[in-house]
Amino acid sequence: MPTAEQTHPTSLDLSWARSQFPALAQTINGHPAVFLDGPGGTQVPRRVIDAISDYLVRHNANSGGAFPTSRGTDRVIAEARGAMADFLNCDSDEIVFGANMTSLTYAMSRSIGREFGPGDEVVLTLLDHDANFAPWKALEEKGVTIRTVKFNSAECTLDMHDLAHQITSHTCLVAVGFASNAVGTVNDVEEVVRLARQAGALSYIDAVHYAPHGLIDVRALDCDFLVCSTYKFFGPHMGVLYGKREHLTRLRPYKVRPSSNDVPNRWEWGTLNHECIAGIKACVDYWEQLGQRTCGAGPMARESSVEAQLAASPRPSRRESIIAAHAAIHAHERALTEKLIPGLLAIPGLKLYGITDPRRFDHRCATVVVRIDGHSPLELATKLGERGFFTWDGNYYALNLTEQLGVEQSGGFLRLGLVHYNTMEEVERLLAALREIVGS
Ligand SMILES: Cc1ncc(COP(=O)(O)O)c(C=O)c1O
Repeated sequence: MPTAEQTHPTSLDLSWARSQFPALAQTINGHPAVFLDGPGGTQVPRRVIDAISDYLVRHNANSGGAFPTSRGTDRVIAEARGAMADFLNCDSDEIVFGANMTSLTYAMSRSIGREFGPGDEVVLTLLDHDANFAPWKALEEKGVTIRTVKFNSAECTLDMHDLAHQITSHTCLVAVGFASNAVGTVNDVEEVVRLARQAGALSYIDAVHYAPHGLIDVRALDCDFLVCSTYKFFGPHMGVLYGKREHLTRLRPYKVRPSSNDVPNRWEWGTLNHECIAGIKACVDYWEQLGQRTCGAGPMARESSVEAQLAASPRPSRRESIIAAHAAIHAHERALTEKLIPGLLAIPGLKLYGITDPRRFDHRCATVVVRIDGHSPLELATKLGERGFFTWDGNYYALNLTEQLGVEQSGGFLRLGLVHYNTMEEVERLLAALREIVGS
């Protein structure tokens, strides 16, 4: 989604972007592979693969030692922290690395929950992935009251009136997703953070699904915590947590005694996945270069090469490049969505859950779930898979949502998740394949 930071119109250098991802060249049964499984995990650029293997060849060691490979490891971690700080717009010591979003959230919920007890309330939403629900619901064991916010089933948008109603003077924390990994709705997290703050409560944002689609600015958002997973935005399988320094300093982590008590290390348990952390830096490098090429890929690019323009123009900061990359991704994904959704709605017997009105597409990302009469989501995903289209079926752990919409017992939905490396031609082929499968 565009934000105040994104001011200039830009276009995506799609052929360059696609050329960076070796996995996109695969074929299945003679069909080119089409990766529509981004919400479950995206592919990685070559530089991420190279950074992981380079780390294992040149720096492989534990951290904190007085010898070169260990010092190299410390440097790799520091560089990746700096890169993620630019990606989220915070300081390096506010970035915590972990195995994935779920483990980071269980760790945080246990530590934050140390301070809660009977009479305290936590507000959760039924639109969220279970990883931003179950870790907080577990605080009921301590006598904490859990309040849940409904969603409007027609468009699968968060019921903001209900949210305002559920937040009371007893609320200690509000946990909300930035975007739904099932129906693609983008929530008004600015307003949620504002309402939480007004009640004196902490805000905990799950940005796992939003991160590949929209710019995140934790400073502007002024949230207390935000979590994401790098494997959803073209990096390795890891999780990253932003926490305001004051909270990471004040709250008490569960930790082993000899490990560092410094912020943010006190929140990072045991030995980290150093090779993947090297890959995270390379992932942010990819975002940066994508943004740089985006800035250079306007009309001028027809007269001189992108490389020549990049060499001639002043170098944007890493954050500026990330902002430019997001602006270009937003425009590209919007165009794909405008093709995909009307095309799906024209298929007889198809029901799409979520926002379908193009005038409201700013409130959704390019993640779409459907059901088609007479065909289970598993059957559709299997048949599409045989034709080279990688899609998901089921609930994707958005369990409250599938239960509420009454589809949990019958296979959930078929999910089609587009990211920036998908093309218009892939969307057209997907629609043709679906029409062929359902015989229309
Ligand atoms: C919106 C959302 N939140 C949380 C998670 C859990 O992330 P992780 O696998 O990093 O624990 C996912 C994973 O699909 C997700 O889509």
